[in-house]
Parts: sequence; structure tokens; C-alpha cells
Amino acid sequence: MYTEFLSFPAGFAWGAATASYQIEGAANEDGKGKSIWDVFSHAEGTVADGENGDIACDHYHRYREDADLMRGLGIKHYRCSISWPRIFPEGRGAANRKGLDFYDRLFDACLERGITPWVTLFHWDLPAALQEAGGFAGRDCAGRFCEYADTVTGFFADRIKNWITFNEPWVYSFCGHLYGVHAPGLKDLPSALAAAHHILLAHGESLAVIRNNVPGAKIGIVNNLAWIENATNAPEDIEAAKRWDLAFNRWFMDPLFGKGYPEEMVSWYGGNMPEVKSGDLSVIAGATDFLGINYYTRRLVAGDPEDRHIGAKQVYRPHIKRAEFEEWEWYPEGLYKTLRDVKERYGNIPVYITENGTTCDDRISADGCIHDPDRVEFLRRHFAAVWQAIKEDCDVRGYFVWSLYDNFEWGFGFTKRFGVVYLDRENNLRRIVKDSGHFIADVCTNNGFSVD
Ligand code: FCB
Repeated sequence: MYTEFLSFPAGFAWGAATASYQIEGAANEDGKGKSIWDVFSHAEGTVADGENGDIACDHYHRYREDADLMRGLGIKHYRCSISWPRIFPEGRGAANRKGLDFYDRLFDACLERGITPWVTLFHWDLPAALQEAGGFAGRDCAGRFCEYADTVTGFFADRIKNWITFNEPWVYSFCGHLYGVHAPGLKDLPSALAAAHHILLAHGESLAVIRNNVPGAKIGIVNNLAWIENATNAPEDIEAAKRWDLAFNRWFMDPLFGKGYPEEMVSWYGGNMPEVKSGDLSVIAGATDFLGINYYTRRLVAGDPEDRHIGAKQVYRPHIKRAEFEEWEWYPEGLYKTLRDVKERYGNIPVYITENGTTCDDRISADGCIHDPDRVEFLRRHFAAVWQAIKEDCDVRGYFVWSLYDNFEWGFGFTKRFGVVYLDRENNLRRIVKDSGHFIADVCTNNGFSVD
């Protein structure tokens, strides 16, 4: 059999990603304030099995062990996030030194082991006190974000150069403010659109703050992009797929890259639109150093007059392999196509795949190992898609698998395992490297992998 080695460019950043609320636990320790996820997960009927992130992976206490785990896997880049309410328990006022100290210890533990942190400032755990004051649906939350960004980036300026302002503005705004399935659990389109706008504004306003604090900073934002296709060639499906793309992908990408909000969607949203002040769009389009893309799936879209948001619904084809998760179809070609599309539409900005991965029904086998051939296959196919895009001159500089280990998967609690390391919740949260973790280790070491 002919085998080819797909080698990645020198210096390609292979890594793993996590987020504070999903892994840290220690929900009430060392002066941390409540986040909206603490509040939401403790409300009835919000999370599968009534779970919450009070303990999660207990990373807050086991961060050294986790840094060792990464070193053992040859992971040189780690994307994590800071819990805002650990730093500002009440959202504003004096910073909580003990919160800063935790990240100080964590980042040093990483750096001592040759692991470069990539730090996300906001991965959804807003201080609850700020939500009580209106949250991101209110414009002044952007100012609070800049204060927080200023404190944190100033504090770590000597050691942390890679900063990500926001993770997935679409999910935060729409799942949290329109569909009600994420914190803060609202169901209101104007609030969702306002949150989306104020997040983009906060991103833009924080750029100067971060650059001013951190010499040599590399600053980016992470969007979740899905590859969208119309389910059939019926005109209503073509229109619906277009709206989905505009509402999900381009609503964020276009303003970030200087094209403003897509006109067609602005008219669709009409009176639900928030106030966009003059100057907002140029702030939002401030220069970033890289784009983070979280890519998981393709969405096949059909028209749906019943859908009050964008008049569209997702349809599912049988016999297509999918993750056991919201019907996420495996579609590695979509990652390749997305990378090509981003390059054509927005220019060849440096890109990092900041999340990609899948959930499987992982179990501990009789031999004590976790054999997850499906995840290995998923990863291989997505790595190959990235390799192909690079070959065609897309400037992709790194890939972070979601996730380092199984963790609190938001509304799904602990029922979905995305890790390349298993979290044994029956056994004192011990971590067991899955076959996919060993595969990642090989890929990190060899900066590539073999295909048949
Ligand atoms: C993304 C989130 C991440 C995780 C994965 C599965 O939308 O950014 O925290 O939940 O999905």
C-alpha cells in the first residue's frame, strides 16, 4: 500500500483547547464571584442530569498535573480562557488578586513545560453582577470588558503574547439570548442582536487597550463558522441557506473585516436591530493579527416559514456519519471550503483552527484503555482538510483540538465527551489518555501524519 506523509509547515502550532467554566471547578473559591453559568446551571431544567460546573475537571486544583499531561502528549500550545468573575467578582471595582494568582501559577506551569498559552478573555462566563446590570445586551458592558481586558493583559503582559478577545459571539448571543439554551437563558431577538453588536464593539475597543499593554501582542477573535449548503435547489431553500450563512457566519465576519453588517439581513431584522452608532463599524473593523475558526460541521438548510428568526431549518440526510451531538454531520471538506472561502472573501489573514473535534460514546475497555477509532478518523480527515488548504496557500498557522479532556459540555452537562483524554468521573476524576490522545501526541511530535 502506498503511504504518504502529510507534513505541516515548520512552526505549525499544534495544541489543545479548553474553557474556564468547562474545566476549572472551584466555583466559590478564593473570592471568585458567580458567573452567569453558575446561576444558569443551578436553575432547574437547564442542564442535562441537573449538572453544573462546580467541580468540573477540578482543574483549578490539578493544573500542574494537567500541564504534565500536556507535556506528556507533546502538546506545545494550550488555548484556555480566564474566568472573568475570578478577577472581578462583582464585574467591576478592585481586581481579586487571588484570581490573578491562579492564572499566574497556571501560565508559569505551562511555560516551564515548554507550553505556550493562548488566552481567551471571554468564553461565556460573564460575572453574574454584570448580567444583573443588563449584560452584553447593554452597551456599557463593552466598557466593563475593556477594564477587565486592561487588568488581565497588563498583569500578564510579560509572559502572554497570544490573546483572544471573544469565543464564538454567535453562540453566546443567540443560544444565550434568543434560544434560551445557554446562559443567561433569554429568548428575545433584539437582546440577541444587541449582545452580538456590543460584543463586536467590545472586541474592537479592547484592541488598543491590549496592544498598549502587551508589546508584541498577537490578538485575535474566534468565530464558529459552519459550511452552509441548501438542502435542495428549490428557490426557498436557496434563499434560506443564504440567510443562514449571512446570520451565522457573515453577521460577524463581515463587520470584523470592514464590510459592515450584511444589508440583506439588516433589512430582514428591521426594527429588531440595535442602535449602531456612527464610528462603531470602524472600531469593530480594527486590525487583528489572526482569526480563530472553530469548525465542527456542515449545515444543510431548507426554508421554514415557521422559524421566526430566519425562516430556515436544518435538514438531515440519513447515512451520513455524524457526532452524537445535535446531529453534527462529519464534513471535513467543509473545513477546507471554509478556509478557502475566508481567504477569498476577507483576504489571506493568518488563521488558527481554535477548535475542532467530535464527541463519541467513549468507554473504558477491559484493557483499561479508551479506544476511540472514530475520533481518530475524524481528526485525520480534518487534519488532511487543513493540509490541503495550506497547500493551496491558505495561511493556516495552527490547530487546537477540542478538547484536551472531557469536560462540562454546557447544556449537555457531562453527557458528551469531546476530549482526547478521558475524564473518569467514577474514579476521582482521573485522566486517561484515549487512543486519539496518543494519535495527537504522534502528530505533535512529527508535525504531520501518514495517510494511505
Ligand atoms: C463550541 C464551544 C466549546 C465546546 C464545543 C463543543 O461551540 O466553544 O466550548 O462547547 O463547542
